Amino acid sequence: MSLGTRLEALRRQDTSEDDWAGFLRRTEAELPRLTGLFRDLYGDGPDASRERELLLADAADAWQDRPADLRALDAARAEHPDWFQSNRMLGGVCYVDLYAGDLERLRGRIPYLRELGLTYLHLMPLFLAPEENSDGGYAVSSYRDVNPALGTMADLRGLAAELRENGISLVVDFIFNHTSNEHEWARRARAGDPEFEGFYWLFPDREGPDAYERTVREIFPDDHPGSFVQLDDGRWVWATFHSFQWDLNYRNPAVFRAMAREMLFLANQGVDVLRMDAVAFIWKELGTTCESLPQAHWLLQAFNAVCRIAAPSLLFKSEAIVHPDEVIQYIDPHECRLSYNPLQMALIWSSLATRDVGLLSQALERRHALPEGTAWVNYVRSHDDIGWTFADEDAAELGIDGHAHRRFLNSFFVNRFPGSYARGVPFQDNPRTGDCRISGTTASLAGLEAGDDGAIGRILLAHSIALSTGGVPLLYLGDEVGQLNDYGYLDVPGHAEDSRWVGRPPYPADRYAEREDPATDAGAVFQGLRALIRARAATPEFAGGRLVPFATNNSHVLGYQRPGDAGTAVVVLANFADDPQSVTPRTLSGLPASAEDILAGTPVDLSGGLVLPAHTFRWLRVRVR
Ligand code: GLC
Ligand code: GLC
Repeated sequence: MSLGTRLEALRRQDTSEDDWAGFLRRTEAELPRLTGLFRDLYGDGPDASRERELLLADAADAWQDRPADLRALDAARAEHPDWFQSNRMLGGVCYVDLYAGDLERLRGRIPYLRELGLTYLHLMPLFLAPEENSDGGYAVSSYRDVNPALGTMADLRGLAAELRENGISLVVDFIFNHTSNEHEWARRARAGDPEFEGFYWLFPDREGPDAYERTVREIFPDDHPGSFVQLDDGRWVWATFHSFQWDLNYRNPAVFRAMAREMLFLANQGVDVLRMDAVAFIWKELGTTCESLPQAHWLLQAFNAVCRIAAPSLLFKSEAIVHPDEVIQYIDPHECRLSYNPLQMALIWSSLATRDVGLLSQALERRHALPEGTAWVNYVRSHDDIGWTFADEDAAELGIDGHAHRRFLNSFFVNRFPGSYARGVPFQDNPRTGDCRISGTTASLAGLEAGDDGAIGRILLAHSIALSTGGVPLLYLGDEVGQLNDYGYLDVPGHAEDSRWVGRPPYPADRYAEREDPATDAGAVFQGLRALIRARAATPEFAGGRLVPFATNNSHVLGYQRPGDAGTAVVVLANFADDPQSVTPRTLSGLPASAEDILAGTPVDLSGGLVLPAHTFRWLRVRVR
């Protein structure tokens, strides 16, 4: 039987020829891969094939439910699949409640988001979640309901449409590794319903948990040791993150299908990009670390294939804050087209602390290139902690001991190191393993809170790297006006134990009000950043991710080139030292003598070398042929 005949029963009367033909075409293209992945993950048994057939029916439904404007978007994006590689792309991220109050009031902030130049807005999780403690929304009780304090699903759809009219794509999380313990599935599992017990990792006693814990690392040891928590009835459940976040059991094909339905539901609300939360953890296998296993990739590929069929313009962004060898494995047109770049992020801070660009330069040289059709999301900090995820092997090549360097960075950024300007707070300090990460806002980590003279320069310098290395730069909203740490979290029940809240201040209205006054800190940061954002948007060489290292022969000065398509390149030089640094005429002798300073809008003569004042950078356009 042809696929068309087989699927005909799924077709609704009012579905047009064209729409149905498109669905069939995409299903034909994706189904062989999806079937193969399903077989690899779930074998050939009757359960697996039943779930796969039902999945196809769900996909057909989702496509036929997909609103016309989103289908039009699908068609438009198919014509420009590289839309996210533009040098005009600029992301912002915020919590709806902290930044605006609710979804309705967030609409009111759209004019500002446009003023800033955003084309991408990541709203932190906004779904129904436990009242008091929800890990900032990362414990989801229903993927189909918006947290009532923020609004309704209709508000979200309205916001998505209005953002789109304003040239801004909506990004929300797909929190698919776990649900909250209040999710309907979790409630039913706790009540002993066998169907839903099969959705989670439940154990009658410690035997299973002990066996897994031999090889699994602790992620939130402040919350609970190990990866399991005990229920009132004595059973144990897998909880990688907080005790109220229960890991889903993807060994059960019904879980895959259930989550695929939630994913398509979200896609149809007008979401452009799904941030795939905690991708490394989704598959568990006894005797392994249970991180980044091959099956985690197969699952992502399977979700991706489902999207290609039923919501074809939707993109995935990978959130893998792990070793760089693992981060890269998720970045693939068949998995995630976008990925956070946690290595670059962490090494920007490392360079600011050491005033040495060795590790960052090495990372740009060997860990920046990506497969065709994919891009980094480059950022200075996120809503989470900063973890020092560089590879010890890379560091060793530069004579740096990874462990000792991490210890230094942790003490530097929490102001325990003499001369530090940083005001970070330790996160998940684990005396047993020596592991620790850092929380704080960009401004507080860069010295603004401490009143250090170099702070504003450092803030701009850090952002200048994220804005010029390609891909999608992502700003943590509020950082563009230099917002400081918020210690109020210590008084909030459920937040006090999680220092990441120090870096999640409420909307800094006073600082925004000062943003046009360059005599204020807020204004100096804002105007400096706005100039960078505008210059980037006018610099086609910054599109895509192509980057060629440029040796500056000065350990304080980072260098790279961004080649364009029209015989030009932009040479970036950035001084991480607290004093002026020079780049010699000889170092620049491979470049033409005359360049254009993109930021100043003036010609520069390179024949005499260059001096860069402390924490400054140059974007220089040169002819290369
Ligand atoms: C992601 C989020 C983080 C959350 C965790 C568990 O890493 O960024 O905030 O705690 O997932 O959902
Ligand atoms: C989240 C957590 C971070 C953890 C990571 C693991 O990002 O915030 O602390 O290291 O997940 O993926």
